[in-house]
Amino acid sequence: MKILVIGSGGRDHAIAWKFAQSPRVKHVYVAHGNAGIARTATCVDARSIEDMAAFAEKERIDLTFVGPEKPLSAGIVDLFESKGLAIVGPDKRTSCLESSKCDTKILLRDLGIPVPDFEVFSDPQKAKDYVGQVGYPVVVKADGLAAGKGSLVCDSVEDAREAVRAVMEERIFGDAGARVDVERRLYGRELSFFCFTDGYSVVPMVAAQDYKRAREGDRGKNTGGMGAYSPHPWLDDALVRTIMARVAEPLIHGIREKHGIVYRGILYLGLMLVNESSGIVPYVLEINIRLGDPEAQVILPRLETDLVDICEAILTGRLAQTRLVWDPGYRLCLIAVSGPTKGKKGWYKGYPDRYKIGLPITGLDQIDPRVLVFHSGTETDSNGTWITTGGRVLCLVSRGETLAEARAVALEEMKKISFEGLYFRSDIGLE
Ligand code: GLY
Repeated sequence: MKILVIGSGGRDHAIAWKFAQSPRVKHVYVAHGNAGIARTATCVDARSIEDMAAFAEKERIDLTFVGPEKPLSAGIVDLFESKGLAIVGPDKRTSCLESSKCDTKILLRDLGIPVPDFEVFSDPQKAKDYVGQVGYPVVVKADGLAAGKGSLVCDSVEDAREAVRAVMEERIFGDAGARVDVERRLYGRELSFFCFTDGYSVVPMVAAQDYKRAREGDRGKNTGGMGAYSPHPWLDDALVRTIMARVAEPLIHGIREKHGIVYRGILYLGLMLVNESSGIVPYVLEINIRLGDPEAQVILPRLETDLVDICEAILTGRLAQTRLVWDPGYRLCLIAVSGPTKGKKGWYKGYPDRYKIGLPITGLDQIDPRVLVFHSGTETDSNGTWITTGGRVLCLVSRGETLAEARAVALEEMKKISFEGLYFRSDIGLE
């Protein structure tokens, strides 16, 4: 089979790597990929969804899998299906579950799924008045897509007013900030929970702990994700049943029965587990329509079932008959990011703020072959030297019988990598 993976980051590298493991796969293409991904698959310079579809038709691709949310929101699934091309991912209408935080919160509340108390605003003054009146700390969320950085966690009323100003008036996330969802800040344990679904059956994957804040000790700005590990220490069978019964199943069946939406692909629930007198309640903070980055980097290496078989079951509505097999061992991922560096006109603060690119990377050839290296933002220069091209640069994924073992291996391997300003969170998996 010929597989096409859409994407160019660490998650997409992990997806391409997973497909390449399948005995059923002859060739993996990635559009548009990066230099690291090119060591695993053939990268194709197709940037628009129309070019991707043209490539898939010309090359007679058997199956396409979409990594990021943007092509899904742009309607890549609708386009491929209109040409008779097999593609895994939700269609444009379903993708609004990720691309409108406000409408999704309203939909979830209507379906009786636990969500934090919230209000939606398109008038910044009304939002500022509201955060002064509610009497509890809030999170201000841009309505639209903001590369995982659109949630501003506020400690005070002043912080919240400033967040509203920045999102709605300064438009730091562009038009994504035309509306905001202002929701009660919950305190508990965050969990990224993933399912495969064919729109009728929902099958849970193993869960992962993501680390969104930029700095050690969960401080600093929100990022796309600084590291992850799996399995998750809180997630036992009873909690999986609770999440499926209270969130995943009512959502997939509710949107089909009430709104005519048949959700096919990956469901990613961003949950806050809150210990209440009735037990643990899984509140939905956000819904994403794709695998997480870097959660995919720790989940896919644990998946022993062939991803091609799962994709075919999704596309033919046979997911209920598919049994997933997982390696019980731990996987832990550390992300090397472009940290603070000195520029000509002063300091670059580093990811998720401004950072330098084009910096030579050394040590990749020293990494223990048992450790997986997924590339997020790399290129090779004319001499074949690896250089940085993004905020998140590289992910190292280790395996261990325990979380502590996986953590120790990843930290040891990270010492071998070097580039100017390299920063990583050394507290990933420090429970
Ligand atoms: N790790 C968070 C995300 O993929 O959105």
